[in-house]
Amino acid sequence: MSILKHMLAAAVGAAALAGLSASASAQTIGFSQVGSESDWRTAFSADMKAEAEKRGIKLQFSDAQQKEENQLKAVRSFIAQKVDAIIIAPVVVTGWDQVLKEAQAAKIPVFIADRAVESDPSLFVTRIAADFNLEGRLAGAWLAQASKGNCNIVELQGTVGSAPAIERKKGFEAVISLFPNMKIVKSQSGNFTTSGGKEVMESFIKATDGLKDVCAVWAHNDNMMLGAIQAMKEAGLKPGKDVLTVSVDGVPDIFKAMLAGESDASVELKSDIGKYIYDVVQGYLKGKHDYPKWVLIPSDLHTPADAAEMLKKKGG
Ligand code: AHR
Repeated sequence: MSILKHMLAAAVGAAALAGLSASASAQTIGFSQVGSESDWRTAFSADMKAEAEKRGIKLQFSDAQQKEENQLKAVRSFIAQKVDAIIIAPVVVTGWDQVLKEAQAAKIPVFIADRAVESDPSLFVTRIAADFNLEGRLAGAWLAQASKGNCNIVELQGTVGSAPAIERKKGFEAVISLFPNMKIVKSQSGNFTTSGGKEVMESFIKATDGLKDVCAVWAHNDNMMLGAIQAMKEAGLKPGKDVLTVSVDGVPDIFKAMLAGESDASVELKSDIGKYIYDVVQGYLKGKHDYPKWVLIPSDLHTPADAAEMLKKKGG
């Protein structure tokens, strides 16, 4: 073999070894996701998977189907697998302390994404998420100006005990409490699903004699609003005209509804947030340990004025 061939073989061998050690050291991250209850959630899961692949992360993805007990099992299995880090998007805020202590005892850092937990903050590194309370306040402020401070509202709440349902409600109520003629006349959970929103809205329509004296529907997410829009149309009402609508998420179908004149406003909750989440997780694994306890992702309100632009941005 010529010297040149020897050198080439050595170089190829070294490259193969480097490749091997890179893949051997690829980070394994466990992600316990809430479920697939809404279009927003499905988009968020897809983004987390795509971004992990881009970064060469081995993602252990677990769909909890909206059940906390499934999340607890998933986290315990991530601990048993000795993953490098765990990301949890928790269904509800309570019930996390024990499993977080187990992860801490196993020296596996935990990151909370999207929804919050009501646990001792020393049990997780940080939460990377939007401000749900602000989203509720933005929705309330929009409705206050659209109705000139006079409005009977029916509310479709998200999953009971979840951070977005708790905080969006609080934020919205904080704003409307400033207006003596704005009040919530009916409120019930539709569990963040289209079918739940439709079912609850049908019962509201019956109970209020076809939404008599109701000026607006406020839904904690777009999917429930899309279900409510169907229910109103089936009852012969004109959502977006007879009754104002405001919701949260900014999914493609709500912008389509705006363009059809059936929806008035939605606060966008960004779903392409894998890049922010993995930046923090990988930054931590590389040694950056001074993250604040909340890494904030901004949200903003959209109306028919920019619905076409938003729809295009979201590829709809
Ligand atoms: O936690 C965020 C909320 O969860 C989204 O607004 C809703 O669509 C989802 O189910």
